Amino acid sequence: MKTQNLLRWSLPAGFLLAVAALALAVWSYGYRQALNGLAERSAADLALASDRVSTQLQVYQELAVLTAEHPVLADLSTPAARAAAAELLRSVADKTAALDVFFAAADGRVLAAAEGVTGASVAAADYFERATQGALGTGHSVLQPEGKRAYFYAAPAFAPDGGVRGALVVVADVGDVEQTWRGSLPAVFFTDEGGEVFIANRSELLFWRRSAEGQTPSVTDRGYFAGHEIWRLEGSPYLPARALHLSVGLPVIGMTGEILVDVAPARRIAALQAAALAAVCLALGAMLFIVMERRRTLAEANAVLESRVEQRTRDLSAANTRLRREVREREEAEAALKRAQQELVQAGKLSALGQMSAGISHELNQPLMAIQQYAENGAAFLERGKAERTGENLGRIADMAARMARIIKNLRAFARNESEPMGQVDLVQVIDAAVELTAPRLKADRIDLRWNPAACAGPVHAWGGEVRLTQVFVNLINNAADAMQGQVEKVISISVDIGPRLQVRVQDSGPGIKEPEKMFDPFYSTKAVGSSEGMGLGLSISYGLVQSFGGNIRGANTGGGAVFTVELEPWREGAEKGDAA
Ligand SMILES: Nc1ncnc2c1ncn2[C@@H]1O[C@H](COP(=O)(O)OP(=O)(O)OP(=O)(O)O)[C@@H](O)[C@H]1O
Ligand SMILES: [Mg+2]
Repeated sequence: MKTQNLLRWSLPAGFLLAVAALALAVWSYGYRQALNGLAERSAADLALASDRVSTQLQVYQELAVLTAEHPVLADLSTPAARAAAAELLRSVADKTAALDVFFAAADGRVLAAAEGVTGASVAAADYFERATQGALGTGHSVLQPEGKRAYFYAAPAFAPDGGVRGALVVVADVGDVEQTWRGSLPAVFFTDEGGEVFIANRSELLFWRRSAEGQTPSVTDRGYFAGHEIWRLEGSPYLPARALHLSVGLPVIGMTGEILVDVAPARRIAALQAAALAAVCLALGAMLFIVMERRRTLAEANAVLESRVEQRTRDLSAANTRLRREVREREEAEAALKRAQQELVQAGKLSALGQMSAGISHELNQPLMAIQQYAENGAAFLERGKAERTGENLGRIADMAARMARIIKNLRAFARNESEPMGQVDLVQVIDAAVELTAPRLKADRIDLRWNPAACAGPVHAWGGEVRLTQVFVNLINNAADAMQGQVEKVISISVDIGPRLQVRVQDSGPGIKEPEKMFDPFYSTKAVGSSEGMGLGLSISYGLVQSFGGNIRGANTGGGAVFTVELEPWREGAEKGDAA
């Protein structure tokens, strides 16, 4: 589970890292491109600003060179000449807005000046020294006490012999030069050889040294990105916190032009590009992640469902085998029951036979005696040569034998222990057989049996098994005979009623049923226990048999005896039921 979770979260984490790396790359590329463009524009700006400054100063340089050769300055030995020169220089200064224009002798003494800002001698000034050597001298300084920044051009004035007799110095007001571009963007400044800012379009930068400690603004860091020098600045509201720095050497005025351009817009553009890309990637990634999560949850739910289905299937198959076992047990129990029932039927039949055995043996004995008598008579007639009488006796013997055969056939069929199929049964024939089986007993007991098969006018077909149905009627007739024992008048009448259901009524003139609600219970008997009579099975077996034919048996008292009604299904062609022997 832990490793699964790790796997699950490592993918998004890896994706985020990849997006971050890509965004960084895009940012870097965009920044580089933007910086390149910015550097190009800034270089142009710086060139323009430098040109402007040097061009403006150039004017004063030319002024110095031209004025140095003015004839009024050729000889300044007299006060009058010096006054005239001063007059000239003043007018020149007025016209050119120079701070001062003055002429100094070779030894540095100022002979004539428009304003006299430098004092009486310039012998110590570098620019003057350059001029005395015959070259154009330049220099800058801050004039006291006004604190004005001045740029000096010193042009040598040559004597007729070629030597330097003095120098004409023009003092330009740097503040004036600046005036034209002060405040314009971006920050441009010019530093001298000493690294000090002397000209700038930001006043706070004046006299600033980048390397000096404890200055504002201060450069906290100077680094390079893609070949561009980037400064980090602090302490100035008018300077960018992060700026591209470019510089260009200006040997004409002996200074270096520098520019500081804010890189914030370039960074913003790069950041915007990176952010846009990251947003697109993240949106795609999020969509992908959601889809993957969905699939994962779906797969998990599926797995749970599958395991549940498996569990359910296992339970079901267990229940199934249990049910099957139960079914098998039921079937076995049913078979055992059937066997027991069959055994009971057989026992019932044997019991009935036992009851009837005395009557039957009497019934068989009688014809046997008769046969013996007829045979002896026949032999006597034969001796006397009376063939006709002999034949008569033999015919009687044959009749007797046929009668015995019929009785024995019925007994055999009744006692046979085998299951017979169900089907069409002729009720009249079945009742005839039962009557014939019980006839010896009824005769012995002197019972009057009233049964008229002719009233039925032909066969009555019922649904059932012949032997079993015979057993039912044998039982009913025997019961009726038992009930009437010791009575004077003994009548059993059997009738068949043909309707939608076939009904056979067996009625006697006995005392009636004592406990009608109990008589169908197995082993319920009111007859002497232990004797051959009275197992209490006759009615319960009959009940089961009639039910198995789809019929019904019930008993009631008529007032003058008991009546048992057997209801049976009439047999119909083509409506055979499943064989349930
Ligand atoms: N026709 C009848 N009249 C009066 N009582 C009857 C009649 N038929 C049956 N009974 C009563 O019902 C009881 C149960 O009859 P059933 O045939 O089941 O047993 P059984 O005749 O006593 O013994 P078995 O038939 O097993 O020899 C009888 O003992 C008897 O009391
Ligand atoms: Mg009985």
